[in-house]
Amino acid sequence: MTELRELSQHGSITRVGKASRKGGQVASGQGTAGAGVPFDTSKAHMARVYDFWLGGKDNFAADRAVAEQVAAAYPDIRIAVRAQRAFLARAVHFLVAEAGIRQFLDIGTGLPSANNTHQVAQAAAPESRVVYVDNDPAVLNHARALLTSSPEGATAYIDADLRDTGPILEQAADVLDFGQPVGVMLLGILQGIPDQEEPGAIIARLMNAVPSGSYLALTQIAGDVAVDEVAEGVQRYNERAAAPVAARTHAEASRFFAGLDLVEPGLVQVHRWRAGAGDVGNGRNLAIYAGVGRKP
Ligand SMILES: C[S@@+](CC[C@H](N)C(=O)[O-])C[C@H]1O[C@@H](n2cnc3c(N)ncnc32)[C@H](O)[C@@H]1O
Repeated sequence: MTELRELSQHGSITRVGKASRKGGQVASGQGTAGAGVPFDTSKAHMARVYDFWLGGKDNFAADRAVAEQVAAAYPDIRIAVRAQRAFLARAVHFLVAEAGIRQFLDIGTGLPSANNTHQVAQAAAPESRVVYVDNDPAVLNHARALLTSSPEGATAYIDADLRDTGPILEQAADVLDFGQPVGVMLLGILQGIPDQEEPGAIIARLMNAVPSGSYLALTQIAGDVAVDEVAEGVQRYNERAAAPVAARTHAEASRFFAGLDLVEPGLVQVHRWRAGAGDVGNGRNLAIYAGVGRKP
């Protein structure tokens, strides 16, 4: 394992490196990030596809082609991803303003967008500390945009794979105090962990490392909403993307909260979690589940 640390004005970038998690080929003239995902523009990557759906510019032709294919099968995808960003803001604001959380571990950060976790948290409590984790080299390239902490708080970025919970927790401890409650964010990432890789066990390892009073916020593509459209969209994505995704039913996604107390209104469609009348997706039937649970 190699490790590279650079200090920036407000935080640090840490690379938890492996030669290659998948043993995959790196395209000619392209590099490999610390987490082992090749910077390959010939295949669609979730971070860049998601960026395209959100109206961003950090994507390539292969990403846009897949994004359009999925949107043709499931037209609500664009509003669903915007609703997921809106959920992120509502959930982080809830955790800071109502639950008193001041530290976040945000795994599956995505490319910087409006209302990143530290911006929402520090708007309510400037002393909030946020550690971002992602395994995509495109996100690593833009990590400095995530290190714009308030002077009272801190942000850091770890280039690592969610499955490598040990190194993530070890590095995050440089910024987060694991003796105090932590908000663990897993938004838009669990669909990339297949059942045989035991996403529930990965979550358990993370939640075992944080104290009572910590929270887990997550989202998951729904497999039992707009069933045919979502199944077709997932199939089209998986035929063309670098790494596959899986939809899950409400019962399957609920198991991710094992041992935690779900905060009201429970695991619900993403646009229904503590949303107001003017929130993104209001009145729609969006195929993403979202929920927040508290460690008792
Ligand atoms: C759909 S984006 C979600 C971004 C953000 N959390 C949100 O909800 O707006 C998913 C992100 O998870 C990252 N990701 C996917 N699998 C991962 C893994 N195994 N380890 C770390 N990051 C991963 C992708 O690179 C991408 O940036």
